[in-house]
Amino acid sequence: MLSGKTIILGITGGIAAYKGAALCSKLVQAGAKVHVIMTESAAKFITPLTLQTLSRNPVHTDTFDERDPSVVSHIHLADHADLIIVAPATAGTIAKLAGGHADDMLSTTLLAATCPIVIAPAMNVHMYEHPAVVSNMELLAARGAMFIEPGTGQLACGYVAKGRLAEPEDIANAVQSWFASSKLLAGKRVLVTAGGTVERLDPVRYLTNDSSGKMGFAIAEAAQLMGAEVTVVAGRTSAPPPAGIRLLRVESAQQMLEAVMAEYETLDIVVKAAAVADYRPVAASSSKLKKNGERLVLELERTTDILEQLGKRKKRQVLVGFAAETEQVAFYAMDKLRRKHCDLIVANDVGQAGAGFNHDTNIVQIYGEEGLIEALPLMSKREIGSRLLTLAAERLPQAGESGEYA
Ligand code: CTP
Repeated sequence: MLSGKTIILGITGGIAAYKGAALCSKLVQAGAKVHVIMTESAAKFITPLTLQTLSRNPVHTDTFDERDPSVVSHIHLADHADLIIVAPATAGTIAKLAGGHADDMLSTTLLAATCPIVIAPAMNVHMYEHPAVVSNMELLAARGAMFIEPGTGQLACGYVAKGRLAEPEDIANAVQSWFASSKLLAGKRVLVTAGGTVERLDPVRYLTNDSSGKMGFAIAEAAQLMGAEVTVVAGRTSAPPPAGIRLLRVESAQQMLEAVMAEYETLDIVVKAAAVADYRPVAASSSKLKKNGERLVLELERTTDILEQLGKRKKRQVLVGFAAETEQVAFYAMDKLRRKHCDLIVANDVGQAGAGFNHDTNIVQIYGEEGLIEALPLMSKREIGSRLLTLAAERLPQAGESGEYA
């Protein structure tokens, strides 16, 4: 399943370095061309000869050990890699990469790489939970690095806790499914709306909501990783937008409607993750409103329901809506799906811990025409994004089908 893929396996200096050998072997067996880079400390735990034998390629440990004068090896390796896996990744290597340090063969190659990076940390549980390590991992994740979480078990330091390198088989499987899903949306155009809309009362005041944009941005990142051409139409957000994705900023529900409609014909999948205002002030004052009297009554009018409009004009597009509910989640989700002619509805009970606005995680159920398709446990918004888009991809019309909505 990995034939034709060039993978760099970075092994760093932790006791789990020996598992790097099993991982190397599994990647080679799956058909990948594997080039191993070991840090000096890794070479204290396991010999480069082991990895050379398993990978059938020379192992790199020293940046200045240039064997081929026609190339600069760390740049050459970085340029030709489809993926870099760092397993095990020590706290030190994670810190180096987060800080942009380049002082050995692995860190220089990582900095020179433009391909995706998978990091499988392994360390003592207190190190893994240290705020410095946590913030380094968050920074790398925000830059697009993928993490394979360590497992819980007996650690070399004696603790039974989280920090043990994920099993080589699980890492190899994750890599294979990543490569498989990275082509799922190739050539497809995906638009995601994110954040909350802003409805002006006057030049300095507005009505909005708590949406951070995290869910929409995570879906956009997942779509990009799956090979799609992605556009994000974002209202007010507090989370940083993903790098390298076309971003159209809007304020009001009306502007969001116009921006989405302008693109609609050319799109394959639309995900409406934005929290759109249902009402806006009937009149927005062009000058700052002066206080006047003890009470102020605001008159609001309905905004256009963007999702409903998209549903009405749907041709071949796969349409995904969201339903944030506090009660009777299944009932309201299915009602929205049918009313707004969506293919999928992502419903969440915003009353649950770890779900909803401003979290990196969410707990959602995904509904389709047939009813509940998947009830996902607490997971990162990026993982939810890739699960959701896999379901959306399955619903894309096949070649020859018009997908016209009747
Ligand atoms: N939505 C939209 N345009 C609006 C309001 C909502 O496109 N003016 C979309 C949201 O982006 C979301 C979905 O509709 O994908 C559900 O939003 P929600 O406000 O929960 O839906 P309503 O139908 O307004 O639900 P309720 O009846 O509970 O108010």
